[in-house]
Amino acid sequence: MADTYKAVEVSAPGVLRVVERSVSEPGPGQVRIRVEACGVCHSDVATVTGTYPGLTLPRVPGHEVVGRIEALGAGVSRWKIGKRVGVGFFGGEDGVCEPCRRGDMVNCQNPVIPGITVDGGYAEVIIAEARGIAAIPDELRSVEAAPLLCAGITTYNALRNAGLRGGDLVGVQGIGGLGHLGIQFARHMGFRTVAIGRGREKEQLARDLGAHVYIDTAVDDAAVVLQRMGGARAILATAPSGNAMGPLVSGLAARGKLIVVAVPEDQIQLSAFPLVFGGRSIYGTLTGTAIDTEDTLAFSVLENIRPMIETVPLEQAADAYARMMQGKARFRMVLVTQDGDR
Ligand SMILES: NC(=O)c1ccc[n+]([C@@H]2O[C@H](COP(=O)([O-])OP(=O)(O)OC[C@H]3O[C@@H](n4cnc5c(N)ncnc54)[C@H](OP(=O)(O)O)[C@@H]3O)[C@@H](O)[C@H]2O)c1
Ligand SMILES: [Zn+2]
Ligand SMILES: [Zn+2]
Repeated sequence: MADTYKAVEVSAPGVLRVVERSVSEPGPGQVRIRVEACGVCHSDVATVTGTYPGLTLPRVPGHEVVGRIEALGAGVSRWKIGKRVGVGFFGGEDGVCEPCRRGDMVNCQNPVIPGITVDGGYAEVIIAEARGIAAIPDELRSVEAAPLLCAGITTYNALRNAGLRGGDLVGVQGIGGLGHLGIQFARHMGFRTVAIGRGREKEQLARDLGAHVYIDTAVDDAAVVLQRMGGARAILATAPSGNAMGPLVSGLAARGKLIVVAVPEDQIQLSAFPLVFGGRSIYGTLTGTAIDTEDTLAFSVLENIRPMIETVPLEQAADAYARMMQGKARFRMVLVTQDGDR
């Protein structure tokens, strides 16, 4: 086996470059994974621009990583060499902070985050914490599983944890990496699913993904249309625009919830009226743990949900990232290594 591997690192803010790194041995409780595929998530912007608090460069981005275990660190008994696994944004908890001690690992105050606190999956090799990895079912190709590890789990968990009931009116705002999976999950969980995008271009795609209704915010006020339909029990906000998010609260039914998963740079402006008169609420939710990932993958197999992807060789990560940032990806760019299914 070669003692070096190819990776794409952020060497300085805005600069993604291909480098050769030496392969290292996994430490106690860690595994080394030979990467096959890695999705390009909009959150990678925090690494590429170098703006994530505490981030140090160089750093290899990527937190939708699928590959095979090729080395086990001391004390790892749960996993076997050759097993296909994945790691997402949540790479492991510290186990000692207050949220962890309360069993709320996803909100760990000192988590391992691939691509941020440690090198991520824009690479042929990654070292991951054994407690942070998920098994990949045989039914899913590596390139299909990768986007489910962040875009998938984030929308799946947000929807399944929202206290919704079958038949509820649910909006999914923003039809990108997260949104196109959110639409599918909402539909397959039995909700009356409304996709909220801007422009006509994605209408047919949204309907193909399972949306019952498409709202084009370039011509219609989403809140007015949703109220005409009875008001949404929940709206999953995946578009990175605070400006577009605030007005959605008025499209909620009484006690409806605006679930924020996007992390826009601009502020969300809110009117107190629809919050107070009708008991509406707004809250955020962050990814999920490894076992939630396994649930996401199992549900995707059960309901035949797959991401729509565009694959590119790892070496072209900079182009893939640019395509995602320009909103051209349909709907997830996935980097594929020599060992992957190119
Ligand atoms: N909470 C979490 O755990 C979590 C996990 C992953 C990602 N995120 C965050 O979630 C957001 C989305 O990530 P992603 O990977 O899905 O990004 P993406 O693939 O770039 O998709 C974002 C989509 O939002 C659409 N959009 C932008 N502004 C809009 C507006 N005003 N109205 C309607 N649609 C609009 C864009 O479409 P057009 O430009 O074509 O309109 C684009 O398709 C990012 O902020 C990311 O950091 C959060
Ligand atoms: Zn992500
Ligand atoms: Zn913790």
